Formats: sequence, C-alpha cells, structure tokens
Amino acid sequence: MTKPIIQFKHVQKSFGANQVIPDLNFTINQGELVTILGSSGSGKTTTLKMINGLWQPSAGQVLIDGQPIDQLDLVQLRRHMGYVVQQIGLFPHMTIAENIAVVPKMLGWDQERIQQRVNELLELVQLDPTKYAHRYPNQLSGGQQQRIGVARALAVNPPYVLFDEPFGALDAVTRLELQKEVKRIHESLQDKTFLFVTHDINEALYLGQRVMVMNKGQIEQFATPEDIVTQPATSFVKELLGTQQQNRDLWRQYHD
Ligand SMILES: Nc1ncnc2c1ncn2[C@@H]1O[C@H](COP(=O)(O)OP(=O)(O)OP(=O)(O)O)[C@@H](O)[C@H]1O
Ligand SMILES: [Mg+2]
Repeated sequence: MTKPIIQFKHVQKSFGANQVIPDLNFTINQGELVTILGSSGSGKTTTLKMINGLWQPSAGQVLIDGQPIDQLDLVQLRRHMGYVVQQIGLFPHMTIAENIAVVPKMLGWDQERIQQRVNELLELVQLDPTKYAHRYPNQLSGGQQQRIGVARALAVNPPYVLFDEPFGALDAVTRLELQKEVKRIHESLQDKTFLFVTHDINEALYLGQRVMVMNKGQIEQFATPEDIVTQPATSFVKELLGTQQQNRDLWRQYHD
C-alpha cells in the first residue's frame, strides 16, 4: 500500500527578489528511497529545508503525513527527521558514543537505553562498538565520520531521513561503500522514508528507487532509474545522461 508522506503542492520559494522555486509539485510515499538529482543552485537544499521546516515556502503548501507543515510543531518535526550533511559537525570534544547520544539524551532517555542504542547503531553502520564508541571524531577517517553522521541521524528512530550530499567529499571507493550501506540500511528498516540529494548521476541512479531530476527549481523528470535511463523525459535529462555514456551499463551492473 502506498501512503503519501511528503507532498509539495504548488510550492514557490523566493529569497528577496530571487525566485528559486517557481512551482514545485510532487508526492513521496512512505518507505521510499528517493534521490534528488540536480546541478549546483537547482534548489535541492532549499527543497530539503522546506521539508524539515528550516525554510517556509513563499507560497503553496508542504504536507507531512497529510498535515500542513505550518500547523506542526517544528521542534517535534525536526526530531522526527534525521539530517545527514557533508559537514556532519561532530562535536570534537565528545566521544563517538556521546555524539550519537545527543538527541536521545535531550529526550531524557536513561543511560542504559542510550548505551544499548549507541551499540545497535554502531553495529548498523558496521563499526565495532568496542573499538569506536570511546574514540574522538578526529581519530576516525572521513568515511567513518560519515558513518557516525548516519548513525546519529537514526538515533531516535526517525520515520524520515534527509541526506544532503553527505558523501560529496569522499573518494570514489569509500563513497561506493557508503552508498551500499545506505541502501542496506534502508532495506533493513521498515517504512523509513529516505530522501537523498546529490549532483552525482551515478549515485542518484544507484541509490534511488525513484529519482527526481531538478533543474532551476523545477522537476524535469521524477521516475524510476530504469525509466530515466531508457525514457529520458526532456532534453535536459538526455544531456545529463549523455555526460556519462556508460550510465546505462553502470546502472545494469549495479542492479543485476
Ligand atoms: N538564504 C538564502 N538567501 C538567498 N538566496 C539563497 C539562500 N539559500 C539559497 N539561495 C539561492 O537559491 C538557489 C538554490 O540554492 P540551493 O542551496 O537550494 O541549491 P542546491 O541545489 O542545493 O545547490 P548545491 O548543489 O550547490 O548545494 C541558489 O541560487 C542560491 O543562491
Ligand atoms: Mg545544496
């Protein structure tokens, strides 16, 4: 059964006189892993920020689980949205365990529950708790720090997780490892909606069950990776695919 969980209805966003998003309409269903693909400045981050209430639309409506976002308690809402970004901003003076525990602590979880959850999460992101829980962020590689970013975003079991180009700064091999992790984690958790922003077409096609291609604040195509590759809807999408000739092969390679 599909249940609409994030809906944009005629959303418009301007910063001063600069209209960034003219009229955005889409529906994301519960449990989907959607990637948003677009070049720099196309409005990807702005879209994510309107989903977790950091920005308000200038016009139109954002609905979360059927509720207009402006009628929701934003503090509550953000706690229910994991957020993973490139500069994950781990606190340098806190251990990995303490970093992951920030929100659970804020919510008043007891020590035992927190410790159990930290161990669970470290295992989920494939880092041995006995080895890593008591280290400090600067004692981890960039890829490992991003894993902590993912663990931290999942700490209080949010139904939504937003990723904003989290792996942009990593080398290709580490990046592929983490993409696989995200996919595996999404499959292993029930009904979690993941929204993953990237400007890397291979990442978008590999990770997304559906891919939203954005250009200048508008959707060029929102479809499965297979449809995007075999039936590009606009000349923009065609050109995007043309930038890397092997995309179709790559997509097959990943999905076979
Ligand atoms: N706070 C702001 N004030 C003014 N303009 C802004 C603000 N935030 C974003 N913009 C503008 O909105 C447009 C879209 O920005 P956005 O950050 O959503 O792009 P993006 O798709 O995430 O790009 P990137 O891939 O570089 O992160 C850009 O032209 C940007 O300059
Ligand atoms: Mg951005």
